[in-house]
Amino acid sequence: MTFTMPGTELGLRPIRPEDVDHIMQWINDPAVTRNFAHMSAQITREQELAWLEHVIASDTDRLYAVVDADGAYLGNAGVHKIYWPARNGRLGLVLGAAGARGRGLGTQAMRLLVELALTELNLHKVWLVHYRSNERMAHIAAKLGFTQEGVLRDEYFHAGGFHDMVRWSLLEQDPR
Ligand SMILES: CC(C)(COP(=O)(O)OP(=O)(O)OC[C@H]1O[C@@H](n2cnc3c(N)ncnc32)[C@H](O)[C@@H]1OP(=O)(O)O)[C@@H](O)C(=O)NCCC(=O)NCCS
Repeated sequence: MTFTMPGTELGLRPIRPEDVDHIMQWINDPAVTRNFAHMSAQITREQELAWLEHVIASDTDRLYAVVDADGAYLGNAGVHKIYWPARNGRLGLVLGAAGARGRGLGTQAMRLLVELALTELNLHKVWLVHYRSNERMAHIAAKLGFTQEGVLRDEYFHAGGFHDMVRWSLLEQDPR
């Protein structure tokens, strides 16, 4: 089942173990992953497959492939750290496919992910964090109606230094 909405040709479908080959195309590309703190070492196909299988089986993660109108893979979109008692979760998005970034697709994919999380998953609150330097993500969050909750000082340690993270959230009753 692919989740979509009027006004976009993109869709979100549950990730599958076979998507590992799509993911390997970008997972070790610093141009794509420099915004992810945990990615400081090269990741093998075997490690990535193990992670995918873990996430697919997890109760606190929901991971999707972002696909275009033809069903072609563009990237990963996920709801992580889901805390069901309070119905909240952290959103993550990466458009790793060649040529996918900088064309407005990230905004559309994030809008879809928010809608899926608040309706299909019935969450009350979604949140995200990004490096203070990731102005593109900040722009998308503001544009989609997220509220900035604050700056987590020196929250991540990556590439030899500490980094501030900006945290945003959107509640089910917020305009969107
Ligand atoms: C972050 C990401 C998902 C965004 O997707 P995208 O398709 O590249 O972004 P879009 O083209 O939809 O939108 C970017 C918006 O930010 C704006 N923008 C881009 N660079 C900007 C900058 N330096 N400062 C402010 N705004 C900026 C664009 O103008 C556009 O806004 P507009 O539609 O109102 O004109 C994608 O770039 C990506 O996968 N990056 C690598 C992984 C990543 O950083 N993930 C997020 C981790 S929290």
